[in-house]
Amino acid sequence: ADDGYRLWLKYDLISDPGLRKDYQKAAGFIVGAGNSPILKTAAEELQQGLQGLLGQTVPIHSAAKKGKGGIILVVEATANVSGGALGKDGYRIAEQGGNLVVTGSTESGVLYGAFALLRQLQTRQPLRGISLSSSPRIQYRLLNHWDNPNGTVERGYAGSSIWKWYELPERIDPRYQDYARANASIGINGVVINNVNASARYLTPEYLEKVVALASVMRPYGIRVYLSVLWAAPKVIGGLASSDPLDPKVKQWWTAKTDEIYKAIPDFGGFLVKANSEGEPGPQDYGRDHADGANMLADALGAHDGLVMWRAFVYKANSNGDRFKEAYQEFKPLDGRFKPKTLVQVKNGPIDFQAREPFHPLFGAMPRTPLVLEVQLTQEYLGFATHWVYLAPMFKETLDADTYANGPGSTVAKVVDGSVDQHAISGIAGVANIGADRNWTGHPMGQANWYAFGRLAWDYTLSSQTIAEEWARQTLTADAPAVRTIADVMVRSHGIYTRYTMPLGLHHIMGQTIHYGPEPWLASSARPDWTAVYYHKADAVGLGFDRTEKGSNALALYKPEVQRRWNDPSTCPPNYLLWFHHVPWTQPLSTGRTLWNELCTRYYTGADSVTWMQQQWATVKPQVDAELHADVAARLQTQRKEALWWRDACVLYFQSFAKQPIPAPFSPPE
Ligand code: GCU
Repeated sequence: ADDGYRLWLKYDLISDPGLRKDYQKAAGFIVGAGNSPILKTAAEELQQGLQGLLGQTVPIHSAAKKGKGGIILVVEATANVSGGALGKDGYRIAEQGGNLVVTGSTESGVLYGAFALLRQLQTRQPLRGISLSSSPRIQYRLLNHWDNPNGTVERGYAGSSIWKWYELPERIDPRYQDYARANASIGINGVVINNVNASARYLTPEYLEKVVALASVMRPYGIRVYLSVLWAAPKVIGGLASSDPLDPKVKQWWTAKTDEIYKAIPDFGGFLVKANSEGEPGPQDYGRDHADGANMLADALGAHDGLVMWRAFVYKANSNGDRFKEAYQEFKPLDGRFKPKTLVQVKNGPIDFQAREPFHPLFGAMPRTPLVLEVQLTQEYLGFATHWVYLAPMFKETLDADTYANGPGSTVAKVVDGSVDQHAISGIAGVANIGADRNWTGHPMGQANWYAFGRLAWDYTLSSQTIAEEWARQTLTADAPAVRTIADVMVRSHGIYTRYTMPLGLHHIMGQTIHYGPEPWLASSARPDWTAVYYHKADAVGLGFDRTEKGSNALALYKPEVQRRWNDPSTCPPNYLLWFHHVPWTQPLSTGRTLWNELCTRYYTGADSVTWMQQQWATVKPQVDAELHADVAARLQTQRKEALWWRDACVLYFQSFAKQPIPAPFSPPE
C-alpha cells in the first residue's frame, strides 16, 4: 500500500521492458561534475532514482570517462541555449556524442537538471534526441514554515512540525533529507523554518545549534535556511531596554547576532519579519516606520550574503476604514526608502488568503522596491486538509493578473520576477502545508499544492493543467486516461470550492475562531473588521462591499485600466463582483440571472460538483493505490457533507435579507 511518504519521487520500476531497455542503454553510467556537496547530491540522486526506475545500479565515475551511453554532469557558467545564455541555476539536457549531457550554469543548476532528467523518465518521455533547457524566472523560491518551538504549526493541518527541536542538534531525523530532496526536485532553494509570529528563542545559542544542524542537511540540496525574527528580540533575549531600530545599542545587538549566525551558518539566507501586525512588536512601537526597521536589519547583514524580507501584511486594530487599503497606505509611501537586499513580502490578495482575492494593489505600486509574492499552500481558508482544492489555478490567477503598472502586460508575475522595474533580486514564498503526518500534507492531494508552488515559482508560465498531469503521473498512476480524469478534477476544484463557500467575490465569511466552515452571521468580535457582516454587508437592498468611489474607494488604489474593468458592476468579472460592489438582490448579472438567483445557483451547483468529483474519483479506483484511493474517497465524503453545510448556512442566512424563494430547480434545505 502507498502511504504517501514518497511524494512525487516514487522511482518505481518501469514495467514496460522495451522502454526500460531504452532508458538503460542511455543511462549506463554517471560522470559526476565534481566533489562539492551539491554536485555529489546531483550524482547520487540520479543514481538512486535510476536504481529504482531501471532496477539496476548505475555506477558513478568521478573523472571524465570515455565511452557512450552515459550521463555526464557538467557545470558551465557561460552555457548557452538557443535563446541566449542559460540563466542562473538553469540547466540544459542534450544528447552529445552518444551521451546525455546535463549542464548547469551553477552547481544547483546541475542538481535541478538531474531531477529534470529523472522527471523525464518518471513521465516516460523519450530520451533519444532530447534537448531541453530551463532557467528559473524567480531567484529566491522559498517555503515559509509557520512552525513553533513547541512543535505546533500555526494553521497547519498535517500534524505537528517536522522539526524535532528537542532531538536537535544531536539527532538528525532522516526525514529532513527527504524533505530537502523533495524541495530540490521542484527548485525550491530556501526555507524559513519558523513561524512569522516568531519566538525569540531561535536566536539563542541553544536554538542556533539546532538551526545549524538543519542547515547542514539542506546545504547539499542547494537550500538555504532563513529565520523569522521577533522584532523585540533585543529586549526579550538581549537584555536591552528597547528595540528601537534607531537606537545604536539595538543596531549593535543585531549586527553582533547576525555575525554570530553567519559564523555558524555561512550560507544563512536572512530574515523574515512580521512587525506591527496582529499584535506583533515592531518599529512603530518607537515612532519609527517599516523602512527604518528593515533598513536597520539590512545594515546588520552588512556584507553577508543575505536578505531581509519585510512583510506587508499589516492592518490596524479597530480600523474604521477599509482593511483592503491599509497595507497600501502604510507601504506605498515607503517606496524608495528600502535599502538594497530588502524585499517587501506581499500576500496575493489585499485581505488574507481568502478563497479568491483580486490581486494586491501593492503589486505595481512600489516600483523602487522588489516585492516577494506570498501565497499560502496550507489551506487555512480553503478547507484545511479535508477539502480537495488544487491551488495552481488560484496562484496563476494572481500571477497572470495585469497591474498595468508599466503599460499592458505588467502582470503580477513580471512585477515579482523584477522585469517590470528592472530589479536584480526577486522572490516568491509559499506558506507550507507540511507537517509530521506520514504523507506530509494530511490530504494526499495537498501534495500537489506543494509541488505546483515549486514548479510555478520556477516557471510561472507552466499551465495548471500541465503541472497537475505531471504531478498525478508521478504520484498516483501511470495510466493516461486516469491521469487526465484526475487532472481535470484538480483544475476545476478551486472553482468548485469557491462556488459552495464564497461565490461571486464574497470573502471572510468563515467561522471566526478556527477559520473553518461558514459563519456569515458573525456580527460582533473584539475587532470590528473581523466580523463577517463587515465584509459581506448584506441588507434589504443587496449584498457586497462597495469599494467604488461611492464606498471605500479602494478601487482607486489600482491603475485606471484595472479600475475601469472592475468599477462597473456590468463589466466586473462575476468572480470579483462582491469584492467591489453592493449589488441589489434583484439586479440581473451578466450571467442572465439576478444576483439572488445567481448566488443560489452557485451554492447549489458548487455543492453538486463535489458529487461529480466523487464520481470521477470512483472511476479511477482500479488505477490508484487502494489505501490512497480510500483515503481520498473518505475525505470527499466529508467535503460533500460540508459543501451542503456551507450551501445551506449561507443561502438561508442571505435569504433572510433577500426575502426571495430559492429558485427552481433547487429545492430548499429540509
Ligand atoms: C492569517 C493567519 C494568522 C497568521 C497571519 C499572518 O491571519 O490566520 O495565523 O499569523 O495570517 O500571515 O501573519
